[in-house]
Amino acid sequence: MAFIISISSTKGGVGKSTTAENLAAEGARRGYKVLIYDMDRQGTSTKFGVRRNELIEEMLNEGKPPIPEITQITRNPGEEDVRRTINTLSNSFDLIIIDNKADSDADFQRTAVISDIILTPLSVSHKDIEQIPRIVKIIQTAEETLKLSDPDFVGLDHRLVMSRLKKVSKKRNNEVISFLKEGYSEYVSLSSVIIYETTSYVETEEGATVIDKKAKGAASFQMLFDECIGKRKPTMIRNCFKESEVEAAQ
Ligand SMILES: Nc1ncnc2c1ncn2[C@@H]1O[C@H](COP(=O)(O)OP(=O)(O)O)[C@@H](O)[C@H]1O
Ligand SMILES: [Mg+2]
Repeated sequence: MAFIISISSTKGGVGKSTTAENLAAEGARRGYKVLIYDMDRQGTSTKFGVRRNELIEEMLNEGKPPIPEITQITRNPGEEDVRRTINTLSNSFDLIIIDNKADSDADFQRTAVISDIILTPLSVSHKDIEQIPRIVKIIQTAEETLKLSDPDFVGLDHRLVMSRLKKVSKKRNNEVISFLKEGYSEYVSLSSVIIYETTSYVETEEGATVIDKKAKGAASFQMLFDECIGKRKPTMIRNCFKESEVEAAQ
């Protein structure tokens, strides 16, 4: 069974596809058999996958060692509920990364219930911050559904990842992080990793990521990958997980 990470937000342009593609590349580099499942009709990750395959072919033709392969599947537009498809695919891969689209709370919820981790990239802009209650509600609704079939279910592993932050805006970044810690610790976890704004991520559209190129910005996604597989702890862990940790320790 594959480990499933979904990258979801109620907003576009926050870095969902960039996160999906870089985590996928890091998984592939570590030898995982990786699938990116593209839920968005805009097809950002689909184009990435197609271009990556072409690039691998070019490298092989030139006698160069190729970058690791990532399988990419685009959601069938006629398929409303993708849970069964992804569950079936999970027998054939080690890691599935779901690149969600922005404007469907229903897709966010459906993919959340089958994911081991849900990551929500979020910048420090007001427009992003004001989405948090809506995002929390989606996760809570997904959890209520899961609890109906499993009374011992303790909660989904949902983490905010501060993304596209400008290093020069240190004061604003710190203010927002403090605000999240004070106002939302009951409801969300916060990743220990911050993804700063850098132009090197833009080149990912060409099929090779900063991970493949060992370029600026690679370390952040490598740390985020470590956090997803439990080798690093998030900065803030929402209360339901604290409770479940206490239970486990008893
Ligand atoms: N950390 C970052 N630094 C600089 N540019 C970024 C960063 N994250 C994303 N981008 C760029 O912003 C645009 C939107 O990002 P994308 O990952 O496609 O967002 P989403 O999938 O949430 O709509 C893309 O052109 C992408 O290259
Ligand atoms: Mg996208």
